[in-house]
Amino acid sequence: MASSSSWNQIFCGLAFVFFGLFLGSSTSPAEAAIKKYQFDIQVKNVSRLCHAKPIVTVNGRFPGPTIYVREGDSVLVNVTNHAQYNMSIHWHGLKQYRNGWADGPAYVTQCPIQTGNSYTYAFNVTGQRGTLWWHAHILWLRATVYGAIVIMPKQGTPFPFPQPHREAEIVLGEWWNADVEEVVKQGTNMGLPPNSSDAHTINGKPGPLFPCSEKHTYAMEVEQGKTYLLRIINAALNDELFFGIAGHNLTVVEVDAVYTKPFTTQAILIAPGQTTNVLVQANQVPNRYFMAARPFMDAPLQIDNKTVTAILQYRGVPNSVLPILPQLPSPNDTTFALGYDKKLKSLNTPKFPANVPLKVDRHLFYTIGFGTQSCPSCLNGTRFVASLNNITFEMPQVALLQAHYFNIKGVFKTNFPDKPPTPFNYTGAPLTANLGTSKGTRLSKIAFNSTVELVLQDTNLLTVESHPFHLHGYNFFVVGTGIGNFDPAKDPAKYNLVDPVERNTVGVPTGGWTAIRFRADNPGVWFMHCHLELHTGWGLKTAFVVEDGPGKHQSVLPPPKDLPKC
Ligand code: C2O
Repeated sequence: MASSSSWNQIFCGLAFVFFGLFLGSSTSPAEAAIKKYQFDIQVKNVSRLCHAKPIVTVNGRFPGPTIYVREGDSVLVNVTNHAQYNMSIHWHGLKQYRNGWADGPAYVTQCPIQTGNSYTYAFNVTGQRGTLWWHAHILWLRATVYGAIVIMPKQGTPFPFPQPHREAEIVLGEWWNADVEEVVKQGTNMGLPPNSSDAHTINGKPGPLFPCSEKHTYAMEVEQGKTYLLRIINAALNDELFFGIAGHNLTVVEVDAVYTKPFTTQAILIAPGQTTNVLVQANQVPNRYFMAARPFMDAPLQIDNKTVTAILQYRGVPNSVLPILPQLPSPNDTTFALGYDKKLKSLNTPKFPANVPLKVDRHLFYTIGFGTQSCPSCLNGTRFVASLNNITFEMPQVALLQAHYFNIKGVFKTNFPDKPPTPFNYTGAPLTANLGTSKGTRLSKIAFNSTVELVLQDTNLLTVESHPFHLHGYNFFVVGTGIGNFDPAKDPAKYNLVDPVERNTVGVPTGGWTAIRFRADNPGVWFMHCHLELHTGWGLKTAFVVEDGPGKHQSVLPPPKDLPKC
């Protein structure tokens, strides 16, 4: 590996082990390399919170290995499934230009990798640098099957911010004491949300505020006067999180692998699916400081206030010193959340321009709603469902991309409505109206290279709630957001079309709306869903079929030979 010695230096201080995961690669430091990884999906006994249980892992590690690449590299990840579950891995935020075959969502771009089988994800990392992550994209297996993706800028291209002394990945997650798939099954059978997690974790560790967790605490050593880059990833299934470090400010420099205008804050807000890079200056009295994360929840739902901690430890300070806890915004602090999101702006320099589509070819308006469906065997005789424009998405039996590429009829329809069938007061008093929600595998067809504006509107159907929406295959610009009903006559005038934040996952605020724009220049079938696993499971998802372009290099690539079969 080109930079293995420098990486080694960077990470040995953090007790980071990634040797042995790496199978081999080219040696030229200046040129793009082929990076190869072997991912063995295997079950391993892991103990947390005074319990041991078998979990699904990659190479027996929790979290799984970090993928280190440089912009321009090619990546080959051979995934061999030794677990009892079907598997697929998604490279969250990688654009996979023309190459949905490597995107990973089960039954969307591929059939799952069955037990005993292998599949090699082959993709290029082009035009992106920063922090992304990978995770299982089937069932709730991403609860334990996830890891970081670090894309370094091209050799000789510095960061557009002060070079950090060292860097570390901070991967936030959730831990269940029981088998997660069993928990989900129980919930589904009863028609209720599955039990919520028993802990949050930082790099797989809950930290000393949880029982039996003293030894499961992540610690990062720092030297006074030095600057550190933290690559923070929210791999939690269902919780938006605040994160902060006692006594230290965080300077946000990148989100979802796109540079931002730097700004300083005491805490960040990060939704499932999102990544945030921050610079931290070790400029305080040498001591031990807690980093901490806990949920943000401003919907009228039960608040989960579990706090995960890790330690920022100045060199030379003994472990016996009790760490100091940061002050995080209170769990329902909407004002902080909205204010924080407002500060996020694209860097927008000549080198890193924000190419916001100014003219829109296709206007889409999707409402987000909850509802109930009759379920005679369920506890209340009903089960929860969720919908976009009154459609609860039904997963197909054959992968959508295969059906699209090979023109297999009857798998999906392309009649997803551009707007809700009947407009209503979306965010008024709680609604229980039966809007005729129906199930279906309905997609929206988008012309190649057209510009799309999508307004996602939360509704008060059963309850308002915030939803982090993720679009596969693309980044988009968040041109506007607001509370209440989107007003097509007034709100577009307030859009930021100059330097809006560019990302792949965005929060739709509780009882509000968010407008995004993107250019549909990546042909294929691209999943779009709420990144709260609970809501995805209830049907809060759909996909775009982006047609091939006329050019030679504008159509979906042929599928790889080892593409799994259903
Ligand atoms: Cu990170 Cu389809 O998800």
